[in-house]
Amino acid sequence: MSHAPHHIAIVMDGNGRWASKRFLPRVAGHKQGVDSLRRCVKACAQRGVGVLTVFAFSSENWSRPAEEVSGLMELFALALTREVPQLKADGVQLHFVGERANLSTKVVAGIEKAELATASNSRLILNVCFNYGGRWDIVQAAAKLAAQGTPVTESNLSGEMALAHVPDPDLVIRTGGEQRISNFLLWQSAYSEFYFSGKLWPEFDEAELDVAIAAFNHRERRFGKTSDQLVAQAATSTVA
Ligand code: IPE
Ligand code: IPE
Ligand code: MG
Repeated sequence: MSHAPHHIAIVMDGNGRWASKRFLPRVAGHKQGVDSLRRCVKACAQRGVGVLTVFAFSSENWSRPAEEVSGLMELFALALTREVPQLKADGVQLHFVGERANLSTKVVAGIEKAELATASNSRLILNVCFNYGGRWDIVQAAAKLAAQGTPVTESNLSGEMALAHVPDPDLVIRTGGEQRISNFLLWQSAYSEFYFSGKLWPEFDEAELDVAIAAFNHRERRFGKTSDQLVAQAATSTVA
């Protein structure tokens, strides 16, 4: 049994293709995607993952057909009311990450209620990136520093970013076969390991998660150092 990374981030891609293959409307794929997420949250909690961050709707997804955008908004609002009681019971602390200004008042109220209801939980932190973009995040953090007159340093900027409450992701998974970041955690993934799965998000199950975790456990994270330095470092830390 391999050791689970502390923070896993996922680009949940491939819902539309999953639906198209079955001659279903794209929104049916997104519905199936919610089921897949529910299963994934449970699996992460069972494996001792501390933080799960998922990409649910990007700043760029507003460019999709109006019908799909409104379907996604409705599904999000529905999931907020349906899923929160179980998440709360399972010890999940929810955070919604992204620009709230152009979300409906109903959705924003649901978000605030869900965050409040789960704030004292500590088993797993679930960050749902909704109306999120990595560039938006960097810009909003920089704007806060500018408004305060705070010097721009890496740690000051990190402190204002939308994921300041968690450490950077150790593993970033993207399903759906595409090998790109699509404006996800641009700042925070500086030293993350990447894992690309050919599975469409609705098909990504516990077994696939375990394959991704196993692949992560075979990586050597050097953070700029040499492999020899890491070996020496590991030897001294086991002695101490
Ligand atoms: C990801 O699935 C979910 C969202 C972007 C909301 P897609 O809808 O992008 O699925 P594909 O990539 O078209 O299959
Ligand atoms: C990334 O998927 C966004 C989410 C999963 C929410 P997209 O399907 O929007 O990414 P591109 O457009 O193929 O790069
Ligand atoms: Mg896609």
